[in-house]
Amino acid sequence: MDSGSLRHAFLNFFKERGHTIVPSSSLVPDDPSVLLTTAGMQQFKPYYTGAVDPFVSPHPTLGGKSLGSKNAASIQKSFRTSDIDEVGDERHLTFFEMMGNFSFGGYFKEEAIRYAYDFIVKEVGLKIDYVSVFGGESSVPVDEESERIWKSIDSDLVVKRFGRADNFWGPTGNEGPCGPTTEIYVNGIEIWNIVFNQYFQDRNGNLEPLKTPGIDTGMGLERLAMVSQDKSHVFETDLFSSLQSFLPSGTHSVAFRRTLDHMRAVSFLLADGVRPSNKEAGYVLRRLIRKTVLYEDRYKFSEDALRNILSVITQEYGDFYRELIENQNVILEAFAGEQQKFRKLVSEGRKRIHDLIKKKEEQSHFAVRVKEDFGSKSEHFINLISGDEAFDIYQTFGFPPELIEDELAQYAYSYHKEEFKQAFERAQQKHQEISRAGLERKFGGHGLLLDTGELKAANEEELQIVTRLHTATHLLQAGLRKVLGETVHQAGSDITVERTRFDFTYDRKLTPEELKSAEQLVNEAIEKDLSMEYKEMSFQEAIATGALYSPKEKYPARVKVYSAWNPQTKEVFSRELCGGPHVTHTGEIGKVKIIKEEGVAAGVRRIRAVLE
Ligand code: ALA
Repeated sequence: MDSGSLRHAFLNFFKERGHTIVPSSSLVPDDPSVLLTTAGMQQFKPYYTGAVDPFVSPHPTLGGKSLGSKNAASIQKSFRTSDIDEVGDERHLTFFEMMGNFSFGGYFKEEAIRYAYDFIVKEVGLKIDYVSVFGGESSVPVDEESERIWKSIDSDLVVKRFGRADNFWGPTGNEGPCGPTTEIYVNGIEIWNIVFNQYFQDRNGNLEPLKTPGIDTGMGLERLAMVSQDKSHVFETDLFSSLQSFLPSGTHSVAFRRTLDHMRAVSFLLADGVRPSNKEAGYVLRRLIRKTVLYEDRYKFSEDALRNILSVITQEYGDFYRELIENQNVILEAFAGEQQKFRKLVSEGRKRIHDLIKKKEEQSHFAVRVKEDFGSKSEHFINLISGDEAFDIYQTFGFPPELIEDELAQYAYSYHKEEFKQAFERAQQKHQEISRAGLERKFGGHGLLLDTGELKAANEEELQIVTRLHTATHLLQAGLRKVLGETVHQAGSDITVERTRFDFTYDRKLTPEELKSAEQLVNEAIEKDLSMEYKEMSFQEAIATGALYSPKEKYPARVKVYSAWNPQTKEVFSRELCGGPHVTHTGEIGKVKIIKEEGVAAGVRRIRAVLE
């Protein structure tokens, strides 16, 4: 079956069995405990903990409607940074589509196993090699029930018992629902993970019985396509085949597979509003793009190869994921921007790495000898580039550490990855401490009275001004959304005594009329002297109030929600997650004037505004 038919068959199969079909949530999750969406269950987490009711609470990806069922199914855009190093083998990817069915107190083991069997064997027509169940460990017993269910379906089926590493699923180093699993193997690979969520794991790894036990399953579309199309690796499936033709023919298969994997990931990250930066998801994106540009240069891709791959991805995947089509121009532009920037630096950076290695080789006979003796198979750690040198290359040429490693591999050296990473991080930390000290000096040597990252004030007087500008910034975001629509999201903000600088997502220059209208709305809200009040609540509750927040930011479990509103009429002008500080009434702000509007990156605009 081709991948389109597999998607369709999966959703249909579960729809016919009483599941609500839910669109994929964004790769940038609501859940502040994770950087990117890694699994289909993420958007359903509060149903398992009992925090929300599937029949009452509006579901974020269903446009305000509730699930209306205890059972759901989805194909979720997922991204696993933990697999980056594995990409290039036959089955690992960074971005992938996870098909899953879920139940929150609806059905449990019996139905979940039967559904999986029926879909794989009867619907897709595959033969199962074997299945595995949880073999028992400490407080969690052997899953004899699942064993019995599998045997009752097919008495010839091989059922293996595996330990915690294979057959227990939970959030690594984090809190969340978890439990024993059963897994299905076809053509030697694991294709479907069926989790019986029975416990809630706290941050210390302790297990508590879960409020609403249920089912959480995940099956990578790419792997299913691979076994169903009888291919030996995922890159041979129809999900990638049309992209191969843009790459030069040759034998650099690992680099080419990585290129294709990264280009898909890049398209989807850009479509979900991530932009290249040096922080969090933006940094993941930047590294992926830079790696493809490094390969472009090294393997002499044609000038337009990467752009063409991007266009084909947005077209081919856009049928199912409309956001790719809707954001096609922004995707192409943002990619090209980062590509241009890095193309200029690639050969210079490469030369610096080359020179450093030559110098060290000359200094050390040992290094040369190891190279001759072990060639590319060498597992020896050679301290060719120190943390400081690597950080300097990163700062000057924009080569993230793994790109430096990738370059070193060209010289037949292999690094001790962990030690290299740590050396780089130490150098980076040292640098940050130095620049922070510099910033403090700039503000008078006594440190700042206030520095939230967004707001800075050196004394009481400045504090009052930045506080007024801060509330004005909230009103500005609300005003812009009223004029330009809800695609406007905060992309950054920086407030000094002189002005507020507000970055937001929007794909074109604003007209003078639009700027005037936004400014007018802000000043009207000020004239109404609205109350600026906050309430403290859990992050989940805060999101449910419809409060704006910045998806890229990491929020604590309990947050403040600030509203500029009229408590009598209950009319809300602005509502945002924010740590403050703010004025108590908008009338304290005075008059706001927008002085400049400009683009700062593809799909990101910047407004500067002052108090008059
Ligand atoms: N949440 C499970 C997984 O990601 C299904 O494998």
